[in-house]
This record gives sequence, C-alpha cells and structure tokens, in this order.
Amino acid sequence: MEKLRMGLIGCGGMMKSHVRAVPMLQDIDIVAVCDVVRERAEEVATVLNDPVVMTDYHEMVDLVDCVLVALPHDLHYECGMFFAKKGKHVLMEKPLCNSEEECVSLIETCDKMGVVLMCGYPLRFWPELVRLKEELDSGKYGRVMQVSVWTEQLTGADWLERETPDWASSARLGGGQFFSHGCHYVDLLLWFLGEPVKGMHFGTRVGTPWVMREGTSIAGFVFENGALGYHGATWGARGTRLGWDLQIHTEKGMLEYENHSGEARLYNGKIEHIPGEIENAYDYRVLWRRDEKSNKQTQFEIAHFAECIRTGKKPITDGRAALQSLRIIWKMYDAEKAGVIADLRGLGLPRD
Ligand SMILES: NC(=O)c1ccc[n+]([C@@H]2O[C@H](COP(=O)([O-])OP(=O)(O)OC[C@H]3O[C@@H](n4cnc5c(N)ncnc54)[C@H](O)[C@@H]3O)[C@@H](O)[C@H]2O)c1
Repeated sequence: MEKLRMGLIGCGGMMKSHVRAVPMLQDIDIVAVCDVVRERAEEVATVLNDPVVMTDYHEMVDLVDCVLVALPHDLHYECGMFFAKKGKHVLMEKPLCNSEEECVSLIETCDKMGVVLMCGYPLRFWPELVRLKEELDSGKYGRVMQVSVWTEQLTGADWLERETPDWASSARLGGGQFFSHGCHYVDLLLWFLGEPVKGMHFGTRVGTPWVMREGTSIAGFVFENGALGYHGATWGARGTRLGWDLQIHTEKGMLEYENHSGEARLYNGKIEHIPGEIENAYDYRVLWRRDEKSNKQTQFEIAHFAECIRTGKKPITDGRAALQSLRIIWKMYDAEKAGVIADLRGLGLPRD
C-alpha cells in the first residue's frame, strides 16, 4: 500500500502533540511541514523523517495528498479552501471555521472536489471513550439521565509576554472558551446523548482578562431522550481537583472517566441518605484504565482520517457534524445575549 503523503501546517502547541502520534501511523508519510516561524517548523521536523520545511503552505501543494491544519482559527478557512480546491484531503483542527458561511463554503467545496473533510475532535476516537459509549449503548447500565463534563485549564495567563498576544482576541479565536475549547464537549455530548432540544450558556471574563470573550463557561442542555448535559469549563484554573472529568449518571450507577488517572470507574454504592452509610456512595470499581498517562492521543483520529481517504467512508467528525456543534454554540451565545433559552432543534445538516 502506498503511503499517504501528508503536510503539517502550523507547528505550534497542538502540532507538537500530533507529531508524537505520527510514529504510530505506518501508512502516513509526513513529507512537508510549514510554519510562518521557520524555527517552529524545523523543531517539528526534527522528530520526523526529513520532511521539507517551509514558511508558506502554498508551496507544499504538489508534494502532498492531504494536510493536517493546526493554525489559529481565523486562518482555517483560507487554508482549508486552498487545499480543497487543489483536490487535497483536509484534516482541520477544531473549530472547523469561525463562521457559518465559512463552514458551509468549505463543506460544499470539499464535496464538490470529492475530498475528505474531517474536523479534529480526538475524544471521539479515544479507545477508552469509545468503549464507554459502547457499554452505555449495550443497555447494561440502563438509561442515561445526565452527562457532565468538566475542563479546568490555565490558558494564557502569560499573555503579555507572548509573541502573539492577540491569540485570544475575538477575531482570532472566533469566540471565547465555549466556542474555542467547549466545541469538543458539545460534540461529545451529542455523541453520547443524541439530538439536543434546548440549552443555556453563561460565560464570564472574571479571572481571565487575557481572553476577549468568556474565559469561563457553564452550559446546560436538554436532549430529545430526556437526558441532561452539562459543560463546566475554565481557562482560569489556578488549581484543580477535577481537571478533565466526565461523569455519566445512569439508572444503575455513575460512570466516570477520570482523565488524569486514565481510569474508567463505576460508582454504584447507592446513596441512601442513611447517616453512617453514605460513604458507600464514594466507593468505586475501576472498569479499565488507559495504558498511557494523559496526552492527546491523536493517532486514532489521524488513522480514521487516513481510512476515510482510502475507503471513501465519511468521517465520523466530518464537516457537517462539526458544523452542528458550532451552530449550537452560536445559538447559545445569541440566546445568552438575548436572555432567553436557546432552541437547539434542527441544527444538523443532512449527513448523506
Ligand atoms: N484538539 C485539541 O485538543 C487541541 C488543543 C489545542 C489546540 N487545538 C487547535 O489547534 C489549532 C492550533 O492551536 P495551537 O494551540 O497549536 O496554536 P499555536 O498558536 O501554538 O500554533 C499555531 C501556529 O501556527 C503558525 N502560523 C500562524 N499563521 C501561519 C500561516 N499563515 N502559515 C503557517 N503557519 C502559521 C504560528 O506561527 C504557530 O506556530 C487551533 O485550531 C486550536 O484550536 C486543538
């Protein structure tokens, strides 16, 4: 089998995670790397098999079959369109693009050109989360009533010293914490709970003055199946207990995926509110544990992208799926401004 020739564009923080995954992918050859800051591209190149290093991504077009784009959000559209129009497959970091118009135009162009467009939502492909979803779908825990996700990070308190202090401007990011990072978790809630009906979002800049919009975000959702979803996140965590945590309450117990330890746990020592017995509720059983300590594990999403290119399969996180999550976020931002509950029905595009 011929290896897929891939180009890497934008060699900042996220690309350094991606290149850690590359040695695990036998059927992909990274032939070119690009960053406007040449030293960043060179640094990424040192762990690869001698790719061409460049500062202008247009120059890689004849060298590659596909690209992995990890640029600032406001550059996703222009870059994605350039490669799609040249017939190259595009794996775009999240969020797909900064506006509805850009997303639709990129999706339509990729369709027209017959190239794969996939958005990088790695959680969808993590084996430990895929397994959790399969367990839930098997019905052995009964119905799900609530899925909660917490993410607590300190992102950019050093903003004044940064080379690109505008990284968190609205024009660059396209939104605040909820849009920029929360899109992972809106996507995850849709995966676990299906179609949403309504939702509310609240954001604040308190404690994160480096972000032009909200740096801390709370969102609640109601789904068609009656379950509730919750997303609580901050970019201003000076300390954390939960870090990155997923909790799923079901009729037969609470399942947790605790990212720091990599443990999937089951808590089912029912809370009866009997004094002296309540501690049973905190006992848990480890169902399984991931082999490796926390990293972004993007080898699974990249492998899925490659498989879709080879087989013509539609990516699980294709442009349409990515757009639905973003539409939900935009609708919730608008509703927050208007002081109303967002109607989240019918925001998905047909998938076929
Ligand atoms: N999936 C995840 O878990 C995850 C985590 C972090 C970031 N991301 C996403 O990855 C993308 C990049 O984020 P980051 O944190 O790596 O940002 P970053 O600022 O660290 O890296 C962006 C890089 O792009 C380069 N760049 C800017 N303009 C360019 C151009 N025209 N041509 C070539 N290079 C250019 C910059 O020099 C920089 O090195 C964003 O979409 C972000 O949301 C995803």
